Amino acid sequence: MLHKFIAALPLLSLAFLVAAGPLDLREAAPGIIEDLLTGILNIVQQLIKDVLSGVKSGINDEISAKPLVCLTTLDPCCPCELPACPSIHGANIISSGYDVSAELTKQFTGPDGQCNDNARAAIRFGFHDAGAWDKDSTFGGADGSLMMDYGEENRAENNGLQGVRTLLRTVQSTYKVGYADLAQYAHNHATITCPKGPRVRTFIGRKDATQANPTDKLPDVHDSADNLIALFQRKGFSAHDLAALVGAHAAAKQRFVDPSAAGMPLDTTPGVWDVEFYNDTLNNQGGKNEKVFVLPSDKVLSTHPKVSDEWNAFVGDQPHWNEDYAKAYVRMSLLGVQNLKDLRECTKTLPKKKSL
Ligand code: HEM
Repeated sequence: MLHKFIAALPLLSLAFLVAAGPLDLREAAPGIIEDLLTGILNIVQQLIKDVLSGVKSGINDEISAKPLVCLTTLDPCCPCELPACPSIHGANIISSGYDVSAELTKQFTGPDGQCNDNARAAIRFGFHDAGAWDKDSTFGGADGSLMMDYGEENRAENNGLQGVRTLLRTVQSTYKVGYADLAQYAHNHATITCPKGPRVRTFIGRKDATQANPTDKLPDVHDSADNLIALFQRKGFSAHDLAALVGAHAAAKQRFVDPSAAGMPLDTTPGVWDVEFYNDTLNNQGGKNEKVFVLPSDKVLSTHPKVSDEWNAFVGDQPHWNEDYAKAYVRMSLLGVQNLKDLRECTKTLPKKKSL
């Protein structure tokens, strides 16, 4: 009986299309990730669903060295040996996690062993590539468009990201990896390059962009907390997720909010992925004569009733923040990605986590 119904499905959909008017035929917006995770799921789709629902951690500490014989058939993070693979996946981070990872470790580590200016820019770059999307978008998100030739690097909100974009484009052309995957791989790599950073689950196989991302989807530093919370909610994030995500400012500096204080860090330890950012934001007003520069957006969020309990809970609790950040960033890294069924997990190719 069931197989007869399944066999009749194409005819039923055809009948619907014939009955539908031209407006009904418009492409539907993909919606938040949960909308794509229905029906029978493969192992990676189920894993993504479990991470987003909190059943599994967004952190994975499993590490693997590059196998002596590196073939996709033996290890999904090895080069795809079929000629069709790069175009199917838009990406071949292939010999990567293994070879790209070694390259990024060199680029992102400062002489003191902490994460450097390239790393903090790469963390922001991953967010600005993926975050230019919301549930009403029919394109955009984590698609590499910011690294590609669509001119997004000239948008004011991307000031300061041009240098790391050039660096990542060189990595892309050297290792022939996908732009979309590289933007998110570099974010996750930079995070773990900072001492105390989490090994955020890292997925590979996104399709690269075919156009620039929509405008006006990224947050404005002078906006109200209510507007910022609403902006992130349209991307599928709760106010608590937002509290965790802005913690990336633990590794940040500012240059353009107040150019006369260019280079000032947003917490006292910008080379370390630690929770100092949360108390530094609460305890400073952020003038340029203080130890840290507090962004107006971080200040208003830290005291907003929907955010402040989580913000205060992160103070002094590194494991709590790392877990919540990883869970929220897995979602970020998949915004707008519709081919979830093609993804594979390659977290094991990232370096091991560092303590101070
Ligand atoms: C309410 C949301 C957010 C606002 C308004 C915001 C705004 C800003 C601003 C104004 C800067 C300074 C840019 C400059 O002057 O150079 C900055 C830096 C940075 N942001 Fe955010 N941000 C937000 C969320 C995030 C998120 C979600 C992430 C990562 C997941 C992130 C990562 C970073 C990093 C790492 C830097 C430092 C970049 C560098 O030092 O080169 N931000 N952000």
